[in-house]
Amino acid sequence: MIEQIAKRKTFGIVSHPDAGKTTLTEKLLLFGGAIQTAGAVKSNKIKKTATSDFMEIEKQRGISVATSVLAFEFNAKLINILDTPGHKDFAEDTYRTLTAVDSVILVIDCVKGVEEQTRKLMHVCRMRKTPVIVFINKLDRDGKDPFDLLDEIEEELNIDVRPLSWPINGGSDFKGVYLLYNHSLNLFNSNKTKKTSEEEQLKIKNIQDPLLDEIVGAEDAEKLREDVDLVEGVYEKFDKQLYIDGKLAPVFFGSALNNFGVDELLNTFVNIAPSPKSRNTNVRLVDPEEKKFSGFIFKIHANLDPKHRDRIAFLRVCSGKFERNKFYQHVRLNKKVRFNNPYNFLAQSKNVIDEAFPGDVVGLYDTGNFKIGDTLTEGEELFFKGMPSFSPEIFKEVINLDPMKSKQLKKGVEQLTDEGVAQLFTQQPGNRKFIGVVGELQFDVIKYRLEHEYGAKSRLDPLNYFKACWMTGDTSKIEDFCKYRHKDIVFDKDGNKVFLAQTAYILQMAKSNNPEITYHENSEFKLDNE
Ligand code: G4P
Repeated sequence: MIEQIAKRKTFGIVSHPDAGKTTLTEKLLLFGGAIQTAGAVKSNKIKKTATSDFMEIEKQRGISVATSVLAFEFNAKLINILDTPGHKDFAEDTYRTLTAVDSVILVIDCVKGVEEQTRKLMHVCRMRKTPVIVFINKLDRDGKDPFDLLDEIEEELNIDVRPLSWPINGGSDFKGVYLLYNHSLNLFNSNKTKKTSEEEQLKIKNIQDPLLDEIVGAEDAEKLREDVDLVEGVYEKFDKQLYIDGKLAPVFFGSALNNFGVDELLNTFVNIAPSPKSRNTNVRLVDPEEKKFSGFIFKIHANLDPKHRDRIAFLRVCSGKFERNKFYQHVRLNKKVRFNNPYNFLAQSKNVIDEAFPGDVVGLYDTGNFKIGDTLTEGEELFFKGMPSFSPEIFKEVINLDPMKSKQLKKGVEQLTDEGVAQLFTQQPGNRKFIGVVGELQFDVIKYRLEHEYGAKSRLDPLNYFKACWMTGDTSKIEDFCKYRHKDIVFDKDGNKVFLAQTAYILQMAKSNNPEITYHENSEFKLDNE
């Protein structure tokens, strides 16, 4: 068991759209031996293969709406990459997926530096103290000065950095990187079909080695020496523990498109990335080595086969051994469930599995029993922390356009919101259904799926709300507030009262007029109260 856990490295690759997440994912699969061909791969190639292209709408729009899992063995380790949607409108899906990983590789475009989505993603990582490795991509383009980039990352992402490689020039003059940890040179050739391997890295004795001048030219050798001097002077030696604690991010430079810098990234990742660790629940810390199985659902995926209505729930195993056909406790529903055909995602195909270990992601066929955040155990009642609903940013009301299909619409809205496509709020009296999302595109997905999967035609009317807030504090004060604000009070799917604030000003006023009430912009607090 301990061996199995130590083998597993479960992580996610995240970036602002277009920084190169998809390209890097594919190159890691290539270097890891999970796929054989790369070539000058189009960035959306992975999106177009069966692995993550589950939904019709995804094909239409060419964006990766879904999250999928890619597993492969490398250097006697089992690597699980949890792929995340690239589009910012599906950011919540990405945030949720980050609850199921043990570490993260963050891709940054060297031309653009830190971008909006980079900041948000790092914020989520910091909340959970997730260890992060930074890959600065597109060195074949004229980008920002590497020292400036590192400063920008430290300042804007609020994390210390430690470069482990250093670029020699950039753009059309990019010559390669110097690996600070083993004094070797990785020379750049823009050969898009070939991967450079460790044997091809050029070992030099140290940075003073005259061979360096011969290889890169005296001028660039001198510049590199100065840079490396500065790096070694400014940055502390790389401390693995600080990385594991989420306080320090090692940084690599490369070009995913050109297969460059991927090798050292993967090798370092395999060496330093953490295997599954203890996880917090509402009752206690759960250790992966515990005998008894526990896990949670972080993602639900619908209609892989449009002819069937089944869904796939993605289970992250947290402790013990998950076994096929064994009865487990579905904590929220207080019922026993078992699975005949759980599967994993090894080497891009789905295989039925008999057992799975902490760190693994298992696909479970679901007929509507699961909601995001549900826990399976061997009997113990617990919920894993860190699965909050964040306040949506755009709200619309679902209007039924076909009275004959109201049942279908209700079911569709219920199921889609269980999957986490959006959040559902109900207003009483009147039973009005409000849907809240992070990005406008999610509404398109909802409308499309309601029509195509449930046969329900609907209209989504804009609502003028700014934030949804869950409330805790003095119960009678909350009651009073809800009476006074009854037009803006709705119920979430768990029956909690939620205040929909129309503007930032109104929310601010509510806060200052009601100091006994705490207004939460995510639902995480619920776990503490349960
Ligand atoms: P994403 O998943 O983070 O959204 O990014 P993706 O990998 O799709 O890459 C976005 C664009 O950046 C793609 O170009 C991709 O080819 C390019 N790219 C990725 N890595 C590098 C690199 O190291 N150097 C350079 N110069 N470009 C890189 P595209 O034109 O949008 O798509 P495509 O036509 O290449 O498919």
